[in-house]
Amino acid sequence: MAKTNIYLFANWKMYLDLAESEKLAKELAKFSKKLPKKIKMAVFPTALSTIVVVKNLKNSVVGVGAQNVYFEDKGGFTGEVSALMHKYAGAKYALVGHSERRHLFHETNHEVKMKMEAVLNAGLMPVLCVGETAKEREDRKTEETIEIQLRSALHELNLNKTKKLIIAYEPVWAISKGTGVNDAGKHCDSAEAERLHQFIKNTVRQLLKGIEPIVLFGGSVRPNTAKEYLQKPNIDGVLVGAASTHLDSWKDIVHNAR
Ligand code: 13P
Repeated sequence: MAKTNIYLFANWKMYLDLAESEKLAKELAKFSKKLPKKIKMAVFPTALSTIVVVKNLKNSVVGVGAQNVYFEDKGGFTGEVSALMHKYAGAKYALVGHSERRHLFHETNHEVKMKMEAVLNAGLMPVLCVGETAKEREDRKTEETIEIQLRSALHELNLNKTKKLIIAYEPVWAISKGTGVNDAGKHCDSAEAERLHQFIKNTVRQLLKGIEPIVLFGGSVRPNTAKEYLQKPNIDGVLVGAASTHLDSWKDIVHNAR
């Protein structure tokens, strides 16, 4: 069955500086004029570039999101930016618990939960990221790891009036390290991704009654692999890092998604 919506989310990570973010935002504003309605596109620039990116995409269909938020609204928290501040800057979405936050910056499941609450309270749409490391996969703990992450983040979560929830399944071992290919040269094949998307949807439906989960795949998605993932019934979109930071490869991903 054809999908009603296809989510194409671009996590620019720390790849683009202010001038580069502004340039890409301007190019996307032009490019997105001809997008089919079912394509829901959003970009996640660094916090420093958010205002400029929002300004350039204001009259377009492309949403803007935060890569990370702090869970307090204001106060003595040097170096942090709150969910509310991102909201005031024009963001619509926020990534929560991205694996680089969890593993490079030691973010715990407890902090992820507090960030989920802050994001919802600020009126942003969270994109909750889950996924297992290579070791957890080797130890056959993929489902267990994902279930713990989901349970912890979603337990008794007040979604306010939101009826949909976006989750990104990003197997840590398949995420590229900035070279355009992942260092280990490993890709999560689409059948495995599909199986885990289904697992995530079933788990979320059990945890939050009445919520329809939207699950995106992330981990070295490239123009030549996007279509295969998106053809799977439970993969509602992709969250792309490295390949989303170059106009040409991003355009190719978008074309291949139609
Ligand atoms: P890559 O597409 O660079 O592997 O990054 C995936 C990711 O972490 C998106 O959030």
